[in-house]
Amino acid sequence: MAMWGGRFDAAPTELVAKMGESVSYDHRLYAHDIRGSIAHAKMLAKQGIITADDAHQIEHGLLGIKSQIDAGAFTFDERLEDIHMNIEARLTENIGSAGAKLHSARSRNDQIATDSRLYLRDELDTIKRLVRGLQIELIKIAREHTDTILPGFTHLQHAQPIVLGHYMLAYTEMFDRDHSRLEDCQKRFNYLPLGSGALAGSTLPIDREFVCKELEFLGCCRNSMDATADRDYMIELLSSLSIIMMHLSRMSEDLVFWMSQEAGWIELGDAFCTGSSLMPQKKNPDMCELTRGKTGRVYGDLMALLSIMKSLPLCYNRDMQEDKEPVFDAVDTVKLVLSVYAPMIASMKVNKDRMYEAASDPALMATDLAEWLVKNNVPFRSAHHRVGALVGYCKKAGKRLDEVTLEEMQACVPEANEECLALWKPESSVALRESFGGTAPNQVRTQIAYWMEQDFVKQLLK
Ligand code: ARG
Repeated sequence: MAMWGGRFDAAPTELVAKMGESVSYDHRLYAHDIRGSIAHAKMLAKQGIITADDAHQIEHGLLGIKSQIDAGAFTFDERLEDIHMNIEARLTENIGSAGAKLHSARSRNDQIATDSRLYLRDELDTIKRLVRGLQIELIKIAREHTDTILPGFTHLQHAQPIVLGHYMLAYTEMFDRDHSRLEDCQKRFNYLPLGSGALAGSTLPIDREFVCKELEFLGCCRNSMDATADRDYMIELLSSLSIIMMHLSRMSEDLVFWMSQEAGWIELGDAFCTGSSLMPQKKNPDMCELTRGKTGRVYGDLMALLSIMKSLPLCYNRDMQEDKEPVFDAVDTVKLVLSVYAPMIASMKVNKDRMYEAASDPALMATDLAEWLVKNNVPFRSAHHRVGALVGYCKKAGKRLDEVTLEEMQACVPEANEECLALWKPESSVALRESFGGTAPNQVRTQIAYWMEQDFVKQLLK
Protein backbone atom coordinates (compact mmCIF):
# COMPACT_ATOMS: atom_id res chain seq x y z
CA MET A 1 0.00 0.00 0.00
CA ALA A 2 1.11 3.56 -0.67
CA MET A 3 1.92 5.83 2.30
CA TRP A 4 -1.38 7.59 1.69
CA GLY A 5 -3.23 4.27 1.17
CA GLY A 6 -5.41 4.14 4.31
CA ARG A 7 -8.70 4.70 2.50
CA PHE A 8 -7.83 2.62 -0.56
CA ASP A 9 -8.68 -1.00 -1.33
CA ALA A 10 -6.31 -1.41 -4.27
CA ALA A 11 -2.74 -0.30 -4.89
CA PRO A 12 -1.96 1.66 -8.07
CA THR A 13 -1.35 -0.52 -11.12
CA GLU A 14 2.17 -0.67 -12.41
CA LEU A 15 1.42 1.83 -15.18
CA VAL A 16 -0.30 4.20 -12.80
CA ALA A 17 2.74 4.08 -10.54
CA LYS A 18 4.94 4.72 -13.56
CA MET A 19 2.86 7.70 -14.58
CA GLY A 20 2.72 9.05 -11.04
CA GLU A 21 6.33 8.73 -9.99
CA SER A 22 8.75 11.63 -9.98
CA VAL A 23 11.60 10.17 -7.96
CA SER A 24 13.45 9.21 -11.14
CA TYR A 25 14.17 12.92 -11.55
CA ASP A 26 13.31 14.69 -8.29
CA HIS A 27 15.86 12.59 -6.39
CA ARG A 28 18.27 15.43 -7.09
CA LEU A 29 16.44 17.39 -4.40
CA TYR A 30 17.47 14.96 -1.65
CA ALA A 31 19.98 17.18 0.16
CA HIS A 32 17.53 20.07 0.25
CA ASP A 33 14.67 17.80 1.27
CA ILE A 34 16.72 16.47 4.17
CA ARG A 35 17.85 19.91 5.21
CA GLY A 36 14.22 21.07 5.30
CA SER A 37 13.13 17.98 7.27
CA ILE A 38 15.81 18.46 9.91
CA ALA A 39 14.76 22.07 10.46
CA HIS A 40 11.12 20.96 10.61
CA ALA A 41 11.87 18.22 13.17
CA LYS A 42 13.83 20.64 15.38
CA MET A 43 10.89 23.00 15.34
CA LEU A 44 8.41 20.20 16.17
CA ALA A 45 10.53 19.31 19.22
CA LYS A 46 10.96 22.93 20.29
CA GLN A 47 7.18 23.32 20.18
CA GLY A 48 6.58 20.11 22.14
CA ILE A 49 4.84 18.41 19.20
CA ILE A 50 7.42 15.60 19.26
CA THR A 51 10.03 14.84 21.93
CA ALA A 52 13.63 16.03 21.84
CA ASP A 53 14.65 12.40 21.58
CA ASP A 54 12.40 11.88 18.52
CA ALA A 55 13.95 14.93 16.88
CA HIS A 56 17.41 13.68 17.65
CA GLN A 57 16.68 10.27 16.14
CA ILE A 58 15.13 11.91 13.08
CA GLU A 59 18.14 14.15 12.52
CA HIS A 60 20.57 11.30 12.98
CA GLY A 61 18.52 9.02 10.72
CA LEU A 62 18.21 11.65 7.98
CA LEU A 63 21.93 12.39 8.01
CA GLY A 64 22.58 8.66 7.65
CA ILE A 65 20.28 8.53 4.63
CA LYS A 66 22.01 11.57 3.17
CA SER A 67 25.43 9.92 3.42
CA GLN A 68 24.01 6.84 1.75
CA ILE A 69 22.57 8.84 -1.12
CA ASP A 70 25.79 10.90 -1.38
CA ALA A 71 27.68 7.63 -1.73
CA GLY A 72 25.31 6.31 -4.39
CA ALA A 73 24.32 3.47 -2.07
CA PHE A 74 20.61 4.28 -1.78
CA THR A 75 18.07 2.54 -3.99
CA PHE A 76 15.11 4.73 -4.86
CA ASP A 77 11.76 3.03 -5.17
CA GLU A 78 9.43 4.43 -7.83
CA ARG A 79 6.49 2.87 -6.00
CA LEU A 80 7.12 5.48 -3.30
CA GLU A 81 6.44 8.17 -5.90
CA ASP A 82 8.78 10.98 -5.02
CA ILE A 83 11.91 11.97 -3.15
CA HIS A 84 9.90 13.02 -0.09
CA MET A 85 8.27 9.65 0.44
CA ASN A 86 11.41 7.70 -0.44
CA ILE A 87 13.31 9.44 2.31
CA GLU A 88 10.49 9.36 4.84
CA ALA A 89 9.76 5.67 4.26
CA ARG A 90 13.41 4.75 4.68
CA LEU A 91 13.65 6.87 7.80
CA THR A 92 10.71 5.08 9.41
CA GLU A 93 12.11 1.74 8.32
CA ASN A 94 15.38 2.64 10.03
CA ILE A 95 14.26 4.37 13.22
CA GLY A 96 10.66 3.28 13.70
CA SER A 97 7.94 5.43 15.25
CA ALA A 98 10.02 8.62 15.56
CA GLY A 99 10.27 8.62 11.75
CA ALA A 100 6.52 8.33 11.43
CA LYS A 101 6.16 11.60 13.39
CA LEU A 102 8.24 13.72 11.01
CA HIS A 103 5.36 14.56 8.70
CA SER A 104 3.33 16.21 11.50
CA ALA A 105 2.14 19.69 10.47
CA ARG A 106 3.55 19.20 7.00
CA SER A 107 2.30 18.27 3.55
CA ARG A 108 4.24 17.36 0.47
CA ASN A 109 2.76 20.51 -0.99
CA ASP A 110 4.60 22.88 1.33
CA GLN A 111 7.54 20.47 1.35
CA ILE A 112 8.13 20.53 -2.42
CA ALA A 113 7.60 24.30 -2.54
CA THR A 114 10.34 24.58 0.10
CA ASP A 115 12.72 22.03 -1.43
CA SER A 116 12.55 23.60 -4.86
CA ARG A 117 13.30 27.06 -3.47
CA LEU A 118 16.28 25.78 -1.49
CA TYR A 119 17.53 23.97 -4.58
CA LEU A 120 17.10 26.93 -6.88
CA ARG A 121 18.75 29.27 -4.41
CA ASP A 122 21.93 27.17 -4.71
CA GLU A 123 21.71 26.68 -8.46
CA LEU A 124 21.20 30.40 -8.99
CA ASP A 125 24.35 31.13 -7.01
CA THR A 126 26.23 28.85 -9.39
CA ILE A 127 24.71 30.36 -12.52
CA LYS A 128 25.38 33.88 -11.26
CA ARG A 129 29.01 32.95 -10.72
CA LEU A 130 29.23 31.55 -14.26
CA VAL A 131 27.73 34.74 -15.69
CA ARG A 132 30.36 36.77 -13.83
CA GLY A 133 33.07 34.48 -15.20
CA LEU A 134 31.92 35.11 -18.74
CA GLN A 135 31.79 38.88 -18.17
CA ILE A 136 35.40 38.74 -16.98
CA GLU A 137 36.52 37.07 -20.22
CA LEU A 138 34.69 39.70 -22.25
CA ILE A 139 36.27 42.52 -20.27
CA LYS A 140 39.72 40.99 -20.77
CA ILE A 141 39.23 40.97 -24.55
CA ALA A 142 37.88 44.50 -24.39
CA ARG A 143 41.03 45.67 -22.57
CA GLU A 144 43.24 44.17 -25.25
CA HIS A 145 41.21 45.48 -28.14
CA THR A 146 40.30 49.10 -27.48
CA ASP A 147 41.90 49.99 -30.82
CA THR A 148 41.04 46.94 -32.93
CA ILE A 149 38.71 48.14 -35.64
CA LEU A 150 36.06 46.08 -37.39
CA PRO A 151 32.84 46.86 -39.22
CA GLY A 152 29.75 47.28 -37.08
CA PHE A 153 26.54 46.01 -38.65
CA THR A 154 22.90 46.89 -38.79
CA HIS A 155 20.63 44.63 -40.87
CA LEU A 156 23.79 42.52 -41.32
CA GLN A 157 25.01 45.29 -43.65
CA HIS A 158 28.25 47.11 -42.99
CA ALA A 159 27.21 50.23 -41.08
CA GLN A 160 30.02 52.06 -39.29
CA PRO A 161 33.43 51.05 -37.95
CA ILE A 162 33.53 50.05 -34.30
CA VAL A 163 36.28 48.77 -32.03
CA LEU A 164 36.21 45.17 -30.82
CA GLY A 165 36.33 46.24 -27.17
CA HIS A 166 33.09 48.15 -27.69
CA TYR A 167 31.39 45.01 -28.96
CA MET A 168 32.63 42.92 -26.03
CA LEU A 169 31.41 45.51 -23.55
CA ALA A 170 27.98 45.54 -25.19
CA TYR A 171 27.61 41.90 -24.16
CA THR A 172 29.14 42.66 -20.77
CA GLU A 173 26.21 45.04 -20.23
CA MET A 174 23.67 42.44 -21.34
CA PHE A 175 25.09 39.76 -19.07
CA ASP A 176 25.13 42.27 -16.24
CA ARG A 177 21.38 42.74 -16.57
CA ASP A 178 21.01 38.97 -16.77
CA HIS A 179 22.88 38.70 -13.50
CA SER A 180 20.67 41.28 -11.84
CA ARG A 181 17.53 39.51 -13.14
CA LEU A 182 18.71 36.32 -11.45
CA GLU A 183 19.37 38.22 -8.27
CA ASP A 184 15.91 39.82 -8.33
CA CYS A 185 14.26 36.48 -8.92
CA GLN A 186 16.23 34.92 -6.08
CA LYS A 187 15.22 37.75 -3.74
CA ARG A 188 11.56 37.34 -4.60
CA PHE A 189 11.37 33.59 -4.01
CA ASN A 190 13.58 33.46 -0.94
CA TYR A 191 10.60 33.07 1.43
CA LEU A 192 9.61 29.97 3.38
CA PRO A 193 6.50 27.99 2.33
CA LEU A 194 6.92 25.26 5.00
CA GLY A 195 4.19 25.45 7.64
CA SER A 196 1.56 26.16 5.00
CA GLY A 197 0.39 22.54 5.12
CA ALA A 198 -1.52 21.25 2.12
CA LEU A 199 -3.11 24.65 1.54
CA ALA A 200 -4.64 26.11 4.71
CA GLY A 201 -2.01 26.00 7.45
CA SER A 202 -1.94 23.73 10.51
CA THR A 203 -3.92 23.18 13.71
CA LEU A 204 -0.66 22.28 15.48
CA PRO A 205 1.25 25.01 17.37
CA ILE A 206 4.13 25.36 14.86
CA ASP A 207 6.78 28.11 14.79
CA ARG A 208 7.42 29.05 11.18
CA GLU A 209 9.83 31.86 12.09
CA PHE A 210 12.13 29.30 13.69
CA VAL A 211 12.22 27.17 10.53
CA CYS A 212 12.69 30.31 8.46
CA LYS A 213 15.85 31.22 10.38
CA GLU A 214 17.17 27.64 10.29
CA LEU A 215 16.82 27.54 6.52
CA GLU A 216 18.06 31.10 6.00
CA PHE A 217 15.01 32.44 4.22
CA LEU A 218 14.28 36.18 4.25
CA GLY A 219 10.88 35.55 5.84
CA CYS A 220 7.82 33.28 5.81
CA CYS A 221 5.38 33.24 2.89
CA ARG A 222 2.44 35.25 4.25
CA ASN A 223 -0.35 33.21 2.65
CA SER A 224 -0.49 29.41 2.80
CA MET A 225 -2.57 29.11 -0.38
CA ASP A 226 -0.15 31.25 -2.36
CA ALA A 227 2.82 29.42 -0.84
CA THR A 228 1.66 26.00 -2.00
CA ALA A 229 -0.01 26.95 -5.28
CA ASP A 230 2.25 29.25 -7.24
CA ARG A 231 5.25 28.43 -9.37
CA ASP A 232 5.82 31.97 -10.59
CA TYR A 233 9.36 31.88 -9.22
CA MET A 234 10.18 28.99 -11.52
CA ILE A 235 8.63 30.77 -14.47
CA GLU A 236 10.55 33.92 -13.65
CA LEU A 237 13.72 31.89 -13.44
CA LEU A 238 13.02 30.17 -16.76
CA SER A 239 12.39 33.56 -18.38
CA SER A 240 15.66 34.89 -17.01
CA LEU A 241 17.46 31.79 -18.24
CA SER A 242 15.78 32.15 -21.63
CA ILE A 243 17.06 35.71 -21.87
CA ILE A 244 20.59 34.56 -21.02
CA MET A 245 20.35 31.95 -23.76
CA MET A 246 18.98 34.53 -26.19
CA HIS A 247 22.03 36.70 -25.53
CA LEU A 248 24.42 33.77 -25.89
CA SER A 249 22.66 32.68 -29.05
CA ARG A 250 22.98 36.10 -30.67
CA MET A 251 26.61 36.31 -29.77
CA SER A 252 27.11 32.83 -31.18
CA GLU A 253 25.53 33.93 -34.43
CA ASP A 254 28.16 36.69 -34.75
CA LEU A 255 31.03 34.38 -33.84
CA VAL A 256 29.94 31.82 -36.44
CA PHE A 257 30.01 34.55 -39.07
CA TRP A 258 33.27 36.06 -37.82
CA MET A 259 34.89 32.64 -38.13
CA SER A 260 33.55 31.97 -41.63
CA GLN A 261 35.91 32.09 -44.60
CA GLU A 262 33.98 35.16 -45.81
CA ALA A 263 35.00 37.14 -42.71
CA GLY A 264 38.04 35.30 -41.31
CA TRP A 265 38.16 37.72 -38.38
CA ILE A 266 38.55 35.24 -35.54
CA GLU A 267 39.50 31.69 -34.85
CA LEU A 268 38.18 29.83 -31.83
CA GLY A 269 40.52 27.39 -30.10
CA ASP A 270 40.74 23.83 -31.43
CA ALA A 271 39.38 22.49 -28.16
CA PHE A 272 36.11 24.34 -28.78
CA CYS A 273 35.58 23.32 -32.39
CA THR A 274 34.88 20.04 -34.11
CA GLY A 275 35.84 18.54 -37.43
CA SER A 276 33.83 16.92 -40.16
CA SER A 277 33.67 13.14 -40.48
CA LEU A 278 33.89 13.59 -44.24
CA MET A 279 35.76 16.81 -45.09
CA PRO A 280 39.27 16.72 -43.61
CA GLN A 281 39.85 20.47 -43.88
CA LYS A 282 36.89 21.51 -41.74
CA LYS A 283 37.00 23.24 -38.38
CA ASN A 284 33.49 24.05 -37.30
CA PRO A 285 32.31 26.37 -34.50
CA ASP A 286 29.92 23.70 -33.21
CA MET A 287 29.76 24.99 -29.64
CA CYS A 288 28.35 28.28 -30.94
CA GLU A 289 25.82 26.41 -33.04
CA LEU A 290 24.83 24.16 -30.13
CA THR A 291 24.40 27.25 -27.97
CA ARG A 292 21.96 28.57 -30.56
CA GLY A 293 20.20 25.21 -30.71
CA LYS A 294 19.98 24.79 -26.96
CA THR A 295 18.35 28.22 -26.74
CA GLY A 296 15.29 26.68 -28.38
CA ARG A 297 15.31 23.98 -25.77
CA VAL A 298 15.33 26.45 -22.86
CA TYR A 299 12.52 28.48 -24.46
CA GLY A 300 10.63 25.18 -24.68
CA ASP A 301 11.11 24.66 -20.95
CA LEU A 302 9.65 28.10 -20.28
CA MET A 303 6.67 27.47 -22.58
CA ALA A 304 6.06 24.07 -20.97
CA LEU A 305 5.78 25.51 -17.48
CA LEU A 306 3.66 28.48 -18.54
CA SER A 307 1.30 26.05 -20.20
CA ILE A 308 1.26 23.66 -17.24
CA MET A 309 0.26 26.46 -14.86
CA LYS A 310 -2.20 28.46 -16.89
CA SER A 311 -5.51 26.82 -16.01
CA LEU A 312 -4.89 25.34 -12.59
CA PRO A 313 -7.49 26.05 -9.94
CA LEU A 314 -6.06 27.11 -6.59
CA CYS A 315 -4.28 25.45 -4.77
CA TYR A 316 -1.99 22.49 -5.45
CA ASN A 317 -2.71 20.21 -8.41
CA ARG A 318 -0.68 17.20 -9.42
CA ASP A 319 -0.01 18.84 -12.79
CA MET A 320 2.56 20.84 -10.88
CA GLN A 321 4.79 17.81 -10.48
CA GLU A 322 5.57 18.41 -14.17
CA ASP A 323 7.37 21.64 -13.20
CA LYS A 324 10.58 19.85 -12.31
CA GLU A 325 11.90 18.44 -15.55
CA PRO A 326 11.75 21.75 -17.45
CA VAL A 327 13.38 23.59 -14.55
CA PHE A 328 16.13 20.99 -14.14
CA ASP A 329 16.70 20.87 -17.89
CA ALA A 330 17.02 24.65 -18.20
CA VAL A 331 19.31 24.91 -15.17
CA ASP A 332 21.55 22.10 -16.47
CA THR A 333 21.62 23.52 -19.99
CA VAL A 334 22.50 27.07 -18.95
CA LYS A 335 25.20 25.87 -16.56
CA LEU A 336 26.75 23.69 -19.25
CA VAL A 337 26.64 26.34 -21.95
CA LEU A 338 28.08 29.07 -19.71
CA SER A 339 30.82 26.72 -18.52
CA VAL A 340 31.90 26.11 -22.11
CA TYR A 341 31.33 29.65 -23.32
CA ALA A 342 33.74 31.53 -21.05
CA PRO A 343 36.84 29.45 -21.90
CA MET A 344 35.76 29.34 -25.55
CA ILE A 345 35.73 33.14 -25.66
CA ALA A 346 39.13 33.16 -23.95
CA SER A 347 40.49 30.86 -26.67
CA MET A 348 39.54 33.29 -29.43
CA LYS A 349 42.34 34.50 -31.72
CA VAL A 350 41.68 37.81 -33.42
CA ASN A 351 42.84 38.58 -36.95
CA LYS A 352 43.15 42.36 -36.65
CA ASP A 353 44.29 42.81 -40.25
CA ARG A 354 41.25 41.09 -41.73
CA MET A 355 38.97 43.07 -39.44
CA TYR A 356 40.65 46.35 -40.36
CA GLU A 357 40.53 45.57 -44.06
CA ALA A 358 36.80 44.91 -43.86
CA ALA A 359 36.26 48.19 -42.01
CA SER A 360 38.31 50.19 -44.49
CA ASP A 361 35.63 50.55 -47.14
CA PRO A 362 35.08 54.34 -47.11
CA ALA A 363 31.35 53.75 -47.53
CA LEU A 364 31.34 53.00 -43.78
CA MET A 365 32.47 56.60 -43.22
CA ALA A 366 29.62 58.19 -45.23
CA THR A 367 27.85 59.22 -42.01
CA ASP A 368 31.03 61.00 -40.91
CA LEU A 369 30.86 63.27 -43.98
CA ALA A 370 27.19 64.00 -43.27
CA GLU A 371 28.04 64.88 -39.66
CA TRP A 372 30.98 67.05 -40.84
CA LEU A 373 28.45 68.99 -42.91
CA VAL A 374 26.18 69.39 -39.86
CA LYS A 375 29.19 70.83 -37.99
CA ASN A 376 29.45 73.25 -40.91
CA ASN A 377 25.83 74.39 -40.55
CA VAL A 378 24.16 72.19 -43.15
CA PRO A 379 20.83 70.80 -41.85
CA PHE A 380 21.21 67.05 -41.29
CA ARG A 381 18.48 66.04 -43.75
CA SER A 382 20.16 68.03 -46.59
CA ALA A 383 23.58 66.72 -45.56
CA HIS A 384 22.26 63.14 -45.68
CA HIS A 385 20.78 63.78 -49.11
CA ARG A 386 23.98 65.30 -50.52
CA VAL A 387 26.20 62.52 -49.24
CA GLY A 388 23.66 60.04 -50.61
CA ALA A 389 24.02 61.68 -54.01
CA LEU A 390 27.81 61.38 -53.75
CA VAL A 391 27.49 57.66 -52.91
CA GLY A 392 25.21 57.28 -55.95
CA TYR A 393 27.74 59.10 -58.14
CA CYS A 394 30.56 56.83 -56.93
CA LYS A 395 28.53 53.74 -57.68
CA LYS A 396 27.93 54.91 -61.28
CA ALA A 397 31.52 56.06 -61.75
CA GLY A 398 32.83 52.76 -60.34
CA LYS A 399 34.89 54.61 -57.68
CA ARG A 400 35.27 54.29 -53.96
CA LEU A 401 34.44 57.36 -51.87
CA ASP A 402 38.14 57.88 -51.14
CA GLU A 403 38.92 57.92 -54.88
CA VAL A 404 36.85 61.01 -55.83
CA THR A 405 38.56 64.36 -56.27
CA LEU A 406 37.47 67.42 -54.30
CA GLU A 407 35.82 68.77 -57.50
CA GLU A 408 33.77 65.60 -57.96
CA MET A 409 32.80 65.72 -54.31
CA GLN A 410 31.79 69.38 -54.52
CA ALA A 411 29.49 68.61 -57.47
CA CYS A 412 27.28 66.70 -55.00
CA VAL A 413 28.36 68.36 -51.75
CA PRO A 414 29.08 72.06 -52.50
CA GLU A 415 30.21 72.82 -48.90
CA ALA A 416 32.96 70.16 -49.01
CA ASN A 417 36.60 71.25 -48.61
CA GLU A 418 40.04 69.63 -48.19
CA GLU A 419 39.15 68.42 -44.67
CA CYS A 420 36.55 66.09 -46.15
CA LEU A 421 39.20 64.14 -48.05
CA ALA A 422 40.68 63.06 -44.69
CA LEU A 423 37.46 61.53 -43.38
CA TRP A 424 37.87 58.09 -44.94
CA LYS A 425 40.15 56.40 -42.43
CA PRO A 426 38.34 54.04 -40.04
CA GLU A 427 40.69 54.96 -37.17
CA SER A 428 39.77 58.62 -37.43
CA SER A 429 36.11 57.64 -37.79
CA VAL A 430 36.05 55.68 -34.52
CA ALA A 431 38.17 58.31 -32.76
CA LEU A 432 35.56 60.94 -33.63
CA ARG A 433 32.72 58.99 -31.95
CA GLU A 434 33.43 60.60 -28.59
CA SER A 435 29.83 60.85 -27.42
CA PHE A 436 29.21 59.13 -24.08
CA GLY A 437 28.88 55.39 -24.71
CA GLY A 438 30.24 55.73 -28.25
CA THR A 439 32.86 53.54 -29.91
CA ALA A 440 35.82 55.99 -29.68
CA PRO A 441 38.74 54.14 -28.05
CA ASN A 442 38.73 56.81 -25.32
CA GLN A 443 35.09 56.12 -24.58
CA VAL A 444 35.72 52.40 -24.54
CA ARG A 445 38.55 52.97 -22.07
CA THR A 446 36.09 54.93 -19.93
CA GLN A 447 33.72 51.97 -20.04
CA ILE A 448 36.55 49.62 -19.07
CA ALA A 449 37.41 51.89 -16.15
CA TYR A 450 33.78 51.61 -15.04
CA TRP A 451 33.90 47.82 -15.10
CA MET A 452 37.27 47.72 -13.33
CA GLU A 453 35.61 49.52 -10.42
CA GLN A 454 32.88 46.89 -10.00
CA ASP A 455 33.30 44.56 -7.02
CA PHE A 456 33.07 41.34 -9.00
CA VAL A 457 35.77 42.53 -11.41
CA LYS A 458 38.02 43.61 -8.53
CA GLN A 459 37.62 40.15 -7.04
CA LEU A 460 37.98 38.10 -10.20
CA LEU A 461 40.31 40.10 -12.44
CA LYS A 462 43.74 40.93 -11.14
N1 ARG B 1 5.91 15.00 -6.09
C1 ARG B 1 4.93 16.02 -5.85
C2 ARG B 1 5.28 17.23 -6.74
O1 ARG B 1 6.35 17.30 -7.16
C3 ARG B 1 4.95 16.45 -4.43
C4 ARG B 1 3.67 17.02 -3.98
C5 ARG B 1 2.60 15.98 -4.03
N2 ARG B 1 1.43 16.39 -3.37
C6 ARG B 1 0.27 15.71 -3.47
N3 ARG B 1 -0.72 16.16 -2.80
N4 ARG B 1 0.15 14.67 -4.26
O2 ARG B 1 4.45 18.07 -6.98
